[in-house]
Formats: sequence, structure tokens, C-alpha cells
Amino acid sequence: MKSLAYFFTYALTVVPFVLVNAVSQLTVDCNAKIRRATHCASGAHYGLIENVPKDYKSLVAPLNINVMRAPARAGNGRQQPIGDVIKVAQRLKESPGARVTIELADILPGWPYRWPGIQTWFNEIRSFINDKKKSGLTNFYGNEIWNEPDVTWKDSNGLSFNQMWKQTYDLLRQIDPNEKIIGPSFSWYEENKMKNFLQFSKQNNCLPDIIAWHELSGIDGVSSHFRSYRNLEKSLGISERPITINEYCDENHDLEGQPGSSARFIGRFERYKVDSGMITWWFVPHPGRLGSLLASDTQKGAGWYFYKWYGDMTGDMVSVSPPNENSKLIDGAASVDASAQYVSFIFGGPNDGSVKANFKNLPSFLGSSAHVKVEKIDWKSKDTPSNGPNTIFEKNYSISNGQISVDLSGTNASSGYRIYITKADGSSNTGNNGNDQPAPSNSSSNGERYKIINRYTNRVLAVENDSTANNANVLQWGDNGSSGQQWVVAKEGDQYRITSYDTNKALDVSGRSTANGGNVIIYDDHAQGNQRWKFIDAGDGYVIIENVNSGKVLDVDNASKEYGANIMQWNKNGSTNQQWKLVPLNPPAVTTTIKTTVTKSAQSTNNASSCSAKILSQGYKCCKEGCVVVYTDDDGTWGVENEEWCGCSSKISTTCPPTIASQGYQCCSPGNCAVYSEDESGKWGIENNEWCGTPNSC
Ligand SMILES: *[C@@H]1O[C@H](CO)[C@@H](O)[C@H](O)[C@H]1NC(C)=O
Ligand SMILES: *[C@@H]1O[C@H](CO)[C@@H](O)[C@H](O)[C@H]1NC(C)=O
Ligand SMILES: *[C@@H]1O[C@H](CO)[C@@H](O)[C@H](O)[C@H]1NC(C)=O
Ligand SMILES: *[C@@H]1O[C@H](CO)[C@@H](O)[C@H](O)[C@H]1NC(C)=O
Ligand SMILES: *[C@@H]1O[C@H](CO)[C@@H](O)[C@H](O)[C@H]1NC(C)=O
Ligand SMILES: *[C@@H]1O[C@H](CO)[C@@H](O)[C@H](O)[C@H]1NC(C)=O
Ligand SMILES: *[C@@H]1O[C@H](CO)[C@@H](O)[C@H](O)[C@H]1NC(C)=O
Ligand SMILES: *[C@@H]1O[C@H](CO)[C@@H](O)[C@H](O)[C@H]1NC(C)=O
Repeated sequence: MKSLAYFFTYALTVVPFVLVNAVSQLTVDCNAKIRRATHCASGAHYGLIENVPKDYKSLVAPLNINVMRAPARAGNGRQQPIGDVIKVAQRLKESPGARVTIELADILPGWPYRWPGIQTWFNEIRSFINDKKKSGLTNFYGNEIWNEPDVTWKDSNGLSFNQMWKQTYDLLRQIDPNEKIIGPSFSWYEENKMKNFLQFSKQNNCLPDIIAWHELSGIDGVSSHFRSYRNLEKSLGISERPITINEYCDENHDLEGQPGSSARFIGRFERYKVDSGMITWWFVPHPGRLGSLLASDTQKGAGWYFYKWYGDMTGDMVSVSPPNENSKLIDGAASVDASAQYVSFIFGGPNDGSVKANFKNLPSFLGSSAHVKVEKIDWKSKDTPSNGPNTIFEKNYSISNGQISVDLSGTNASSGYRIYITKADGSSNTGNNGNDQPAPSNSSSNGERYKIINRYTNRVLAVENDSTANNANVLQWGDNGSSGQQWVVAKEGDQYRITSYDTNKALDVSGRSTANGGNVIIYDDHAQGNQRWKFIDAGDGYVIIENVNSGKVLDVDNASKEYGANIMQWNKNGSTNQQWKLVPLNPPAVTTTIKTTVTKSAQSTNNASSCSAKILSQGYKCCKEGCVVVYTDDDGTWGVENEEWCGCSSKISTTCPPTIASQGYQCCSPGNCAVYSEDESGKWGIENNEWCGTPNSC
């Protein structure tokens, strides 16, 4: 629910309501999907360089980073001695899907940048784009033309920033037409400054593909900047563009990467669908520390563990309501993964020492009881290594009306928290309980049956001719359900055994080969490393399947889409012919739908003309006029009244903004026109100590 608590701490003197308790409340609405999990805020500026951190596999890969930012050129005579973007992109290839922003201005020396004249600038850019093309790398996010022009551009350069922007933009479109253009990268958001830039770039056909600015001067203004920017787009007739906040940090630089500080940025970036965000870099001697998530070049800090929780999120991001969108208070982000069957909620930030996390519309796969694990990660300073999170408690909650509330006390502004919810009977498909990579099998040693589909070819992993013999070859084929296309995946510690269903023989790298091209076969299970595999999350429900003995990954030869193309092992290189989806062949029956959590004795008025006949025929009644549709299926549109399901015709309009009513709030009584709060959903009033939507008639 939208919490009244914070509001009242400010409004107590003027509003005649009694504040019942002062906890900081956050509400997660598991039904209100925002988009797929992208870990948008996981990048960092100069956060990954040529040789830091050295151990990519254990320090970078687990964070499932989205977009980093690095200089086009580094070294003598450049803005930065370190972080050459081509070398960074080369390293980043180990993280499938991760990309890096090219900071072109960093080609130049000095701060503010020493402008060499447009011809030299163009020559530098041409030479860089040439080298970029030669590298063959494609994991770039885009060309960012300039950095912080509001601070670093001087009209004494001989032309205005806008003129330089337009000329550089045209050059890039000509020599690197497929790369996105990013800008203006203002050092802070100011509506008029942004408006002038947008007007100019619209008139001159040089609008950036990705809009960039920095958020370094206070979390409390961030949400209003997103609203302001989207309004500018609308008012200027500009189509909606992805937003990159390519430097973000608390206004107190020492809090860079702190869990409590970052949780609020992550929460807001997710809610406003920011495309990418990079933690800033205030500590010049320490590039490559992932935005102070690392305490040293080799050790994890508390921030690292918090972003690991974030990077582990899969499935859909869902709505979180913080106590106040425009304050410095606690905030966070939540995800629901219906196939791995868990809900994860990470949060942190200033609070009054106790936090109430309300979950509503919990997914039906949880059934009637939820297993809740609450963890925290404490932070001392950005340079203090951390031993990782502690569990605060683990407990089963019975789910009533799709809801549970989790209370925490002794909460701290600097720490980060995670609430991780799975099925209470331990049968959630997530084998990891949130600790490792998302695991497709359940944790039983017998394992579950899957078909295994290649992402690029869409063909399935199959034993040739459904053979049952040792050494039978493994190839790809069209999905036809034959026995040789069924695999049993069982978890053993952090590894998996994959056996052919009808033979019990293990998926095996022939001859324990460690070479590229080593063939994959089935063979009697002898539990050696060449028959054991690790799953590395590749996003969107896909995994990379890595052989324990060779470290190489399961690969369709030559990325062929042909039936019969061979399956072998190859160096992991981020291509989609090395990514696989495990689809359960006997998925657990979904016994509880959302609807059965509500009992059937309807109390609403029965009016056959105002709702679906199919709903009425099942014994439900029609909802009252002004009802809100909360669920739609083949039978029609459903609402809820007095905690009962009822038929709610979508034709019936609400008396207040549907954006408020659809969140489960009542509309205020007609004539109750006092507005206590206004946000993107509309105007809010108060009635009976609860928020309500201000009537349209006011
Ligand atoms: C918050 O945690 C930090 C680090 O563990 C500690 O130094 C500080 O005293 C705590 N503050 C409160 C209010 O508990
Ligand atoms: C939760 O419920 C399951 C199934 O009833 C039980 O096995 C488990 O011990 C319970 N866990 C806790 C922490 O109470
Ligand atoms: C997990 O595996 C066991 C043994 O194969 C099976 O009985 C159980 O139903 C499975 N749970 C789920 C959720 O699939
Ligand atoms: C699989 O079947 C095809 C068609 O019958 C045949 O040509 C091929 O030799 C068989 N492969 C093996 C390994 O037996
Ligand atoms: C099904 O696919 C297998 C390969 O996985 C193939 O050997 C078999 O002939 C196919 N069956 C049919 C009916 O196409
Ligand atoms: C690999 O695939 C390409 C493109 O489909 C094809 O031209 C080439 O002959 C294949 N190479 C081999 C060794 O099969
Ligand atoms: C990755 O390896 C595959 C071999 O499976 C190869 O076809 C592909 O070109 C490689 N991709 C990159 C980006 O190196
Ligand atoms: C039934 O609903 C219709 C349409 O909303 C309305 O016109 C009619 O007055 C209602 N009848 C009763 C008995 O409530």
C-alpha cells in the first residue's frame, strides 16, 4: 500500500489524523510488471580497465553487468591513462549481453578537455572508429560525443557546443552508421538546459539515440528529472528515447557504491525504466573497482554483494512503492521469476529503524505459504572488505489474499537488505535459494526432465537416432519429443549432471578433451569432471552450459541451424549458439490460481446486465458500479469486493483516475477534493486513514 507513515511525519501538524506507527513501509506489487530484469543500474564509469580487476570470473562475471563506460582512447596525451574502451570491450565479452559506452571526449587531454580544433577532433574520431571496426567487437552501447558540456565546453573553442555536436553527429552517422549516438551527458539535470538542447537537435536532425545526463547532486530530485524529461519529449514531439544515467552517486562521494545509498538509485532507475546507469568515479587512484563495489583491486566490498543480489534477479521487475518518491528515504527494486519460482526484493536507505515490507499479489506458484529469507549486508566504508551477507531470519508466512507483510527492526541506513521468497515446501525451481546462478533444476538429487533448446538455432539437444549406446553422438534436431531429446538435470553442489532420459547415460565430453571442438556424446555416468556441467546465467531464461573439466561450453558447431548439426565444446564467447533454455517436460501442476485464494461466497449485487454471463454462471456476482478490473481471463473481467471475486465490466468507469484505482485504492467520496499528494498516478486524497484517489469531478 501507499504508506501514510512518511507523509504524516511531515503533515502531522496540519492534518488531523493520528499516526499509528512510524515504520518505513515499502510495498511490492508482484502483479505490476515493469519490464524484464536487465540490471540496468549495474554499470560503472571507468569501473573495468585493462588489468583491474584481474580476476574477471569471480569479481565481474557474477554481477551480470549491463553497460559500462570507458574512454575511446587511453594513455599519454589523453584524459585518462587507463581504461581503453576496445580493451575493456574485449574483457567484457566474457559477460554475454554486457556492453560498454564509448566516451569520445576522453580522446582529448586535460580537464576541462583541451580542444584541438574541429579537424584534429575529426581525425581522432576517424582513427578511433577505424580501430573499433578492426577489432571486430560488437559489444558497444554507443558513441557518446561529449562529456559534461555544461562544465567542460568553452565558447572560446571557436564554436558553440551545439555546433560541435551537430558536426560530430553528422560525421559519426557517416562513418559509423550502425552505432547509437549518446548525449548530451550534462553534469546535472536542468529542464531549460535540456529543453534548449532538444529543441536544437530536433531542428537540426541530430537528436541522440540515447539521452544521457548525470545524477550526482541528491537522490531526492532524481524521479522528478525523469518526469520532467519525459514531459519535454512529449511537449516537443520527440519520440521516447532510452535514458542512460552514465554517472550516478550520492552527493556524499564517500557513499559511492554503498548498499543503502545505491538501493534508492536502483529502485528509481527500475521504476522509471532507465535503460542503463553507471556508478560514478570519484576516486581517481582507483579505477577498475566497479564503482567502489570492490574494496581493493582484489577484494569484494559490501557494495559488491548488494549488486550481486541485483545481478541475480531474473524474470520480471515489478513495482515497488517507497515511502516517498521525492525524498532521500529508503527505496528498492523487486523481481518475480515465474519459471524459477521466486520473488526477490532488495532495498536500503534512510529509515526510522524498522521497515515493513508489504507484498501484494504474490504469484500463484507460491501456493498458500511462502518461505521468506531476510538477509542484510553491512557496510563500513567503501574501502572495507566484506565477508558477505548475513541472514537475519528465515520463516514461513501464510499467504492471505495474495499478501504478506514482513517486519524488520534494527534497520540501518547504510546497510542493504534482501527479502527472498520461495515456496514454503522447498520445491521452488530455483535450486540456488538466491545464492548462486539461477538453477533450472529443483534441488532433488533425482532431478527433473527437460528439453534443452538452443537460443540461436531454436533446435533441441538430442542423441543421434535416439541411440542408447555408449559413445552415441549428441547433435541438434527439431523438437519432436522423442526419448533422445529428453534430459534429466540434477544438481550436485554447484554442478549439474545431465543424463539422457531413457538411458541414464551422462552428457560427456569425449576423451576428456579440453580442446575447442571436443565432441559431446553420452556415456555411462562415472561422475568425472567431463560429465559435470555448470550453468551460467545468460539472461532471459537462458544459460551457458560449461564443462567442469575443460571450462569450455556446449556449442552448436559453426552456429548451424541444420538438423543434425553437431554439438561440441568451444571457448565461451558470448554468442547465442552457446546459450540454452531448459524447458521442464513435466512442469509442476499449477494448483492454486490467484482466484482460489478468495472464497466464493459473493456478497455483491447480482445484476446480470452489468458483468460477464460466464462469471455469473460460476456463482460469482457482479461487482458494484465503479469497480476496478484486477484480473482478466477467458471468462471476462474480474474485480474484488469485500475480499471476494466478482465480475467487473471494464465498461464501468471509475470515479477517479484508473491509474490509482487499479493499484487497489478506493476512489475518495464525491466532493472530497482535498489533495494531499500528487504523483504520476494522479492526485491523492485521504479517507478513513487511507489514501484514496481524488474524484474526477473535483
Ligand atoms: C549502521 O551500520 C554501521 C556499519 O555496520 C554502523 O557503524 C552504524 O553504527 C550503524 N548505525 C545504526 C544507527 O545502527
Ligand atoms: C516451512 O514449511 C516447510 C513445509 O511445511 C517445512 O518443511 C519447513 O521446515 C518450514 N520452515 C521454517 C523455517 O519454518
Ligand atoms: C523435485 O524433484 C522431486 C524428485 O524428482 C519431485 O518429486 C518433485 O516434485 C520436484 N519438485 C518440483 C517442484 O518439480
Ligand atoms: C542415423 O540414422 C540415419 C538415417 O537412418 C543414418 O543415415 C545414420 O547412419 C544413423 N546414424 C547412426 C550413428 O547410426
Ligand atoms: C525425432 O528426432 C530424432 C532426433 O532427435 C530423430 O532421430 C527421429 O527420427 C525423429 N522422429 C521423428 C518421428 O521425426
Ligand atoms: C559454416 O557456416 C557457413 C555459413 O552457413 C558456411 O558457409 C560454412 O561452409 C560452414 N563451415 C563448415 C565447416 O561447415
Ligand atoms: C563464437 O564461437 C562460435 C563457435 O561456436 C563462432 O562461430 C562465433 O563466430 C564466435 N563468436 C564470436 C563473437 O567470437
Ligand atoms: C444493472 O446494471 C445496469 C447497467 O449498469 C443499470 O442500468 C441497472 O440500473 C442495474 N440494475 C440494478 C437492479 O442495479
